[in-house]
Amino acid sequence: MRAQIEALKAAIGRLPKGLADHVERVATEADWLAGGLGEPTRERVELAAWGHDIARALSSQELLDRAREFGLEVSPIEEEAPILLHGPVGAEILRRDYGIDDPEVLAAARFHSTGRAGMSLLEKVVFVADKIEPSKVEAKPGLSRMRDLADRDLDAAILEYLDQMLTVAREEGWPLHPQAVAARKELLLRRRA
Ligand SMILES: [Fe+2]
Ligand SMILES: [Fe+2]
Repeated sequence: MRAQIEALKAAIGRLPKGLADHVERVATEADWLAGGLGEPTRERVELAAWGHDIARALSSQELLDRAREFGLEVSPIEEEAPILLHGPVGAEILRRDYGIDDPEVLAAARFHSTGRAGMSLLEKVVFVADKIEPSKVEAKPGLSRMRDLADRDLDAAILEYLDQMLTVAREEGWPLHPQAVAARKELLLRRRA
């Protein structure tokens, strides 16, 4: 696993600096969140964090082309906003080009933009770390609430994020991705149980 992490770090280092810096900060946040989890989970979190945005620098057209080449389903929402494909396409690249076969690591990359119902702990850590890294909180101060929650309750942090996304989606008149809707529904029901 260490060799895969090093290969990813090298690849991320060749991406645009803003993106590379983001990924490094996500790895730092993810390691903080995974602090109590022990090995090998902590190293798997590190692998997923370094890999999650491997396809983030691809253009919309490249994402659509790669998604079709990989046989991924492209929904109308993703046709409209191909950026949503950078997780699923990235997960395929991690599998094909980096030999990563850990289903939770691949899912953490695949679903890091939308979340999904039934996220594993590893997926949750990467999802939250991606949103609470300092420059994102600086750009969207509302995320500081998510950051405060993240240390003690990952589910509450994710729900806070999805609620904020839903508010923005409503205001701006775009649909929330079905996987984000499913994630939110599951978290709400669990909280009420
Ligand atoms: Fe991303
Ligand atoms: Fe990211």
